[in-house]
Amino acid sequence: MLEISTSILTVEKENAAKTFYDLETAGTDYYHIDVMDGKFVEKNTEEIMYEYANIIKQISNLPLDVHLMVENVKENIERYIPFSPSIITFHYEACKNNKEILDLIKLIKENNIKPAISIKPETSLEKIKEFLALIHMVLIMTVEPGKGGQKLIPKTVEKVKELKQYLKENNLETYIEVDGGINKETINMVKEAGIDIAVAGSAIISAQDFKKAIKELR
Ligand code: DX5
Ligand code: ZN
Repeated sequence: MLEISTSILTVEKENAAKTFYDLETAGTDYYHIDVMDGKFVEKNTEEIMYEYANIIKQISNLPLDVHLMVENVKENIERYIPFSPSIITFHYEACKNNKEILDLIKLIKENNIKPAISIKPETSLEKIKEFLALIHMVLIMTVEPGKGGQKLIPKTVEKVKELKQYLKENNLETYIEVDGGINKETINMVKEAGIDIAVAGSAIISAQDFKKAIKELR
């Protein structure tokens, strides 16, 4: 069954704890934590996301799905290890070479966290094929990383299909997650393309009724 990971990027600080509680009640499967460093992407959410992760750990046992949009991946992995996230995703584009990628995968796994690699819309699948057997999940960005509320880029759906086919042909169990522009209109095409987890931010957080929004997506 399709899992929903709610991006908390646009949650307001004033009633953050209540919002996180309501998301759990509404049935989100994960909290998606969008860590941005002001370098890999323009925005900087390092402090607020760290604060939110702290609040969530105090009120919920639901898993954290940490998405690092940062240049210094290692430092940020180390920062999030104490929260025991279920998944840590880092960007292929943030890494200097394959050795660094292998080291980061190892660091994440050693801490009993599931490693995942993300690729931006312009990055080809070829680049990450050699890592697929070593990681838990691929996060296919369906928008340019950096902000919520953007429109899904249609050609990224082809990438999801291509990845699904490749995984099947190679007997790999790697999960596929999509992130960006997912709403009740766009979800069907990525679902049909074979995703396991959909990240949704504005489609859930801007809705009056989180439960209804999550149910509609699922
Ligand atoms: C984009 C982030 C996403 C984003 C999702 O850089 O990684 O998680 O906040 O937000 P929506 O669902 O509004 O596109
Ligand atoms: Zn994200």
